[in-house]
Amino acid sequence: MIILGIETSCDETSVAIVQDGHRVLAVSTASSEQFHSQTGGIIPDTAARKQLSFMIPVLTATLKQFSPQQSAPEALKKIDALAVTQGPGLIGSLLVGTQTGKTLSLLTNKPIVPVNHLEAHIFGNWLEKEPDCFPPLPGLALIASGGHTEIIWLEKKARRFSFSRLGGTRDDAAGECFDKCARALGLGYPGGPAIAKLAKQSTNIPSGQSSIKLPRPMLNQNNFDFSFSGLKTALINQIARLKSKGLFNQEAKLLLAREVQDAIVQVLVTKTIAAATKYQPQSLLLGGGVTANQALREEFTQLTSQKEVDLFIPQIRFCTDNGTIVAAAAYFNYFPQPWSKITASSSLEIKTK
Ligand code: KG4
Ligand code: ZN
Repeated sequence: MIILGIETSCDETSVAIVQDGHRVLAVSTASSEQFHSQTGGIIPDTAARKQLSFMIPVLTATLKQFSPQQSAPEALKKIDALAVTQGPGLIGSLLVGTQTGKTLSLLTNKPIVPVNHLEAHIFGNWLEKEPDCFPPLPGLALIASGGHTEIIWLEKKARRFSFSRLGGTRDDAAGECFDKCARALGLGYPGGPAIAKLAKQSTNIPSGQSSIKLPRPMLNQNNFDFSFSGLKTALINQIARLKSKGLFNQEAKLLLAREVQDAIVQVLVTKTIAAATKYQPQSLLLGGGVTANQALREEFTQLTSQKEVDLFIPQIRFCTDNGTIVAAAAYFNYFPQPWSKITASSSLEIKTK
């Protein structure tokens, strides 16, 4: 089955065509990230306007990649179904994608599947894998993105995947913390890659004597929740302290970036592995933009190497928002709805177990 997936939950406009939930046939993505780096963070109105201007060019580029010799309407005839991110996300951005999907469904009479963006991130782990290498279930997933940090239990009941939340952030998401800390350090948006870059440059500075330390929030609490807003505040206080002593130099910046990354990675990895130890899933799955982080990927790989559980980390291109994960999620949870019933929902969530 060939599914065309549309993703517009935040600042990426992405359309992909995926066969049988795992083989990527075409994908193109445009991002309004450069406009947000000028303002130090996403302005929802700007993101929505950019979604509108990117949507049709991205759709036609994907169809051209899929079927270079055919016009877009001809290429569309070869698609079996449509899928669209319903939420959660920025409402103005979501409306552009859902309305595009619904219009295509109306005009082509093809079935359309509404997709929860958080669930879609988990299906990045099925992409470009052969069926005998698909993750075994039940699974435990960490979704760490700009808007969410959640630990999710997933299993398959009859034909339907079911998802339940075991814990998550009580305030800022991990990606949001990266973004806000990057802003405090005077770096651009998105903050995660910017902090990762500085952290990497800091590797030749010995860690031993550094007085730059940041907290590991909720690390030792006996639950699967997170809190990252205090980490950002601690960083801001450290910057102020260093500035008052005239010590906020490039070396301090590198060390602070390293501490931010180390703190976020340590908390995410430790608590997710604690959840896996308690619930004993067959597979441990990562997803979301923050799981593109190299230090996080290496730490998970190292700490699960001696464990029974199989670790699945999506290719980096499937970690951040894109249409492939939407098409994959729709294939594995194939429940089309009449187009008229599909509504964008900014606060769609995964229910607590
Ligand atoms: O999943 P995503 O593309 O969008 C949302 O659903 O929110 O995630 C975006 C987030 C941003 O906060 C960005 O800073 C973070 O993912 N991110 C990273 C890295 N690449 C993107 N964080 C840490 N390290 C990275 N390499
Ligand atoms: Zn996302």
